[in-house]
Amino acid sequence: MRSDANIAGPMTDPVPGPRTESMGDDVSRETPPPMDDTPIGRAAQLAVEALGRAGEGLPRPEQTRVMVVANQKGGVGKTTTTVNLAASLALHGGRVLVIDLDPQGNASTALGIDHHAEVPSIYDVLIDSRPLSEVVQPVPDVEGLFCAPATIDLAGAEIELVSLVARESRLERAIQAYEQPLDYILIDCPPSLGLLTVNALVAGAEVLIPIQCEYYALEGLGQLLRNVDLVRGHLNRDLHVSTILLTMYDGRTRLASQVADEVRSHFGEEVLRTSIPRSVRISEAPSYGQTVLTYDPGSSGALSYLEAAREIALRGAGVAYDAQHAHMGAHNEQNMVEGIQ
Ligand SMILES: Nc1ncnc2c1ncn2[C@@H]1O[C@H](COP(=O)(O)OP(=O)(O)O)[C@@H](O)[C@H]1O
Ligand SMILES: [Mg+2]
Repeated sequence: MRSDANIAGPMTDPVPGPRTESMGDDVSRETPPPMDDTPIGRAAQLAVEALGRAGEGLPRPEQTRVMVVANQKGGVGKTTTTVNLAASLALHGGRVLVIDLDPQGNASTALGIDHHAEVPSIYDVLIDSRPLSEVVQPVPDVEGLFCAPATIDLAGAEIELVSLVARESRLERAIQAYEQPLDYILIDCPPSLGLLTVNALVAGAEVLIPIQCEYYALEGLGQLLRNVDLVRGHLNRDLHVSTILLTMYDGRTRLASQVADEVRSHFGEEVLRTSIPRSVRISEAPSYGQTVLTYDPGSSGALSYLEAAREIALRGAGVAYDAQHAHMGAHNEQNMVEGIQ
């Protein structure tokens, strides 16, 4: 855990290293500058702008922000949001750890991290008290991004945890004992409210709920919110829902905007101004073991996650987010530029 609490300056560490530069190089090689009247030219232009902007003066949290990405519904974009936000925060210059807490290991896959059964994983941390530092791996291609993978053993952990001492706070203890400096820890939860999710809720102060812009978007959320209240009451008084992110937003449908309105009237300030559009690129990236930030940096999906990350970083620092200055390609209420897929 990061304890040097007063490094509150901009993210000026020269963290974004070779990969960020080489991405920039690749992009600029592919894109002679003023060719932005074609879709590809424009996408590349956006990518260059987005990457040029990465690492640029975002406030760094004073202490590690541990964000629990939870929603007990499956398929709402938890894993996608975890890996792409984490990569965005790292490209903005932060040091970020993704903890994969879903036995499916989808976050590990999407980050290109080996997670076959023998790999030391978060299971060993939770069940055998193995130090987190022994399972964390650097993510290839994204400087400053790390992952504690999940293997299939984790499927049994839900039951094995029941009989262990301090069964709800094993992840919290592991994080506390982790000495590497980190700006963010993002925990990808399974689609259930069992002991794995409870461990995440005890370990973090912030809950980030991705909500898919579809019918029944709010269904089941009451149960998650009650669990958050219960954990706050008994195990972690700092816990709160800090962030709601609308995902798979399809601007062409009225349904999406109706759902967005409903979520905003229900939650208000917690809802990020940036929403994530439905994007083929976002759904393709994991099969290449990549986030959309490296797979297609100029796509609307990549730009939206970069923008959401910026909003989260600014909010955390108490700086007002100015949607007017949101990136051109990002999906934003005041900036509904049709994204490039
Ligand atoms: N913005 C998006 N656009 C298109 N497809 C998406 C988007 N976000 C997620 N998906 C796809 O939707 C499916 C469910 O997303 P996922 O992040 O795995 O949800 P969860 O972790 O909540 O189960 C995946 O196939 C993913 O690729
Ligand atoms: Mg998932």
